Amino acid sequence: MKILSFKATHDLEKYAATLILNEVQKKPRLVLGLATGRTMVGVYQELVHLAQNTFTSFKEVTTFNLDEYVGLSELHPASFHSYMNEKLFSHLSFDTTHCFLPRGMALNAEAEALRYENEIQKSGGIDFQLLGLGQNAHIGFNEPGSSFHSRTRLVQLSPATKAQNLFAFSDGQIPDTAISMGLATIMRSKKILLVVTGASKAVPLRDCLADVNEYVPASILQRHAAVTILADEEALSLIPESQKKLITRTDHNLP
Ligand code: GLP
Repeated sequence: MKILSFKATHDLEKYAATLILNEVQKKPRLVLGLATGRTMVGVYQELVHLAQNTFTSFKEVTTFNLDEYVGLSELHPASFHSYMNEKLFSHLSFDTTHCFLPRGMALNAEAEALRYENEIQKSGGIDFQLLGLGQNAHIGFNEPGSSFHSRTRLVQLSPATKAQNLFAFSDGQIPDTAISMGLATIMRSKKILLVVTGASKAVPLRDCLADVNEYVPASILQRHAAVTILADEEALSLIPESQKKLITRTDHNLP
């Protein structure tokens, strides 16, 4: 596990975007796992900027998002479908017939979850998975207590997660359930990039680097062979002295 720390969040976003771009340039048919949330807004902005400046094609890239709310249509402004179209897909040359998210309006959410898991496996598996961190240390929508063996499935959102994401729902009505890749699904990705910014992530990041247990879903990442964590100083502020040697301070050394 590699941990890189950044003073300026903007440098971190640029670094994350550069890593993603490098993967696409190395392998135009990349299978890319994507995340949503406020953390990714700046990362996607930078990615759009860099990809446009370098004329990088995304035509052959396949994407799989981590999750989607159950009961929201693709056009609902708070759906992750809308988020992805607005922040990323519409700005670059993605072939959106190869950009997948779970379908929140599927009649049978459990069957949809299975279908989605199969699609990921049929694609050959995720080469590079981007992750954000929930304030309760969730990844995707794998809430505390999720099995480390979990696959894509219907999940119940915790009150903490609903409170964290309520800002996106102008009517104050946030769904109770979602379809999320499982922890085992995420762990099958060949490489993982976890992006963590801001003081609200200091506790979950500290916990994620402590004991590996199912009450801290992100702690499973310690068992993956190719995880990079990019974090700003606020997010790293509670890391105990003994772990500080794991952190590489990075200012402008882009990959
Ligand atoms: C959401 C998403 C996660 C995301 C996390 C962090 O609930 N399901 O994939 O990483 O919360 O969100 P934010 O970046 O807004 O803090």
